[in-house]
Amino acid sequence: MKVLGVSGSPIKNSNTDRALKAVLDATGYETEFVKLTDCTVAPCRACLGCVKTNQCVIKDDGIELAEKAKAADALIIAGFTPYSTIDSRTKAFIERLYPLRHTHGFMAGKPGGAVITSSVPQGNDMLPPACQMGINAIQFYMMEEGMNFVGAVHIQGNVPCVTCGLGDKCKMTGITMLYGPDATVDSVGIKSFEEQPVAVDAAKELGCKVAEALETK
Ligand SMILES: Cc1cc2nc3c(=O)[nH]c(=O)nc-3n(C[C@H](O)[C@H](O)[C@H](O)COP(=O)(O)O)c2cc1C
Repeated sequence: MKVLGVSGSPIKNSNTDRALKAVLDATGYETEFVKLTDCTVAPCRACLGCVKTNQCVIKDDGIELAEKAKAADALIIAGFTPYSTIDSRTKAFIERLYPLRHTHGFMAGKPGGAVITSSVPQGNDMLPPACQMGINAIQFYMMEEGMNFVGAVHIQGNVPCVTCGLGDKCKMTGITMLYGPDATVDSVGIKSFEEQPVAVDAAKELGCKVAEALETK
């Protein structure tokens, strides 16, 4: 049994990456972690060139990644939410799994899960539901392919304005937009996955649920 984890986060050793690795570790199975910034994956061209061959016609790393997904027994997809939806690398990766669909449904029945980092604080209904949008993109892919979506992990991520150097001076700062008019770089601070017990527990739980689903598959 092998569990594949794919991260679309471009930041080195990011919250998203570390949370995904925590999920993979919690499965107890052999795992592989793939970072999409190490790969070249163009979006689907909707040419339907994969229909008869179950292989994409675009000659980049998307072909090997689809083969890895096909060979894996479970798949965890991790991404972040620029402009309130799933990041483009993760989306392109998902689209390039389309060749696995035709006739065979190679992903059907496999357990799957999602890891999403977003910087919109939980519980503020006035802001776009970035986390849910990210989860939906992954969950709906898995549902449409007949996979067994077993759960999601949300990590409270960093507003880029906290580290950009202009945070408290820029009129476009996201800090006050997300955290209120009195928020500052210092009051918001750096968010890390390991300091979020709810996310750490959710990562362990997701890994365990994937393992349970594999045992009963
Ligand atoms: C261009 C850009 C736009 C962003 N827009 C949003 C957004 O609309 N909603 C949100 O929740 N986070 C947004 N973010 C923040 C990311 O979700 C945040 O940087 C995330 O913590 C990155 O995760 P990582 O550290 O695991 O890579 C944006 C980040 C970037 C770079």
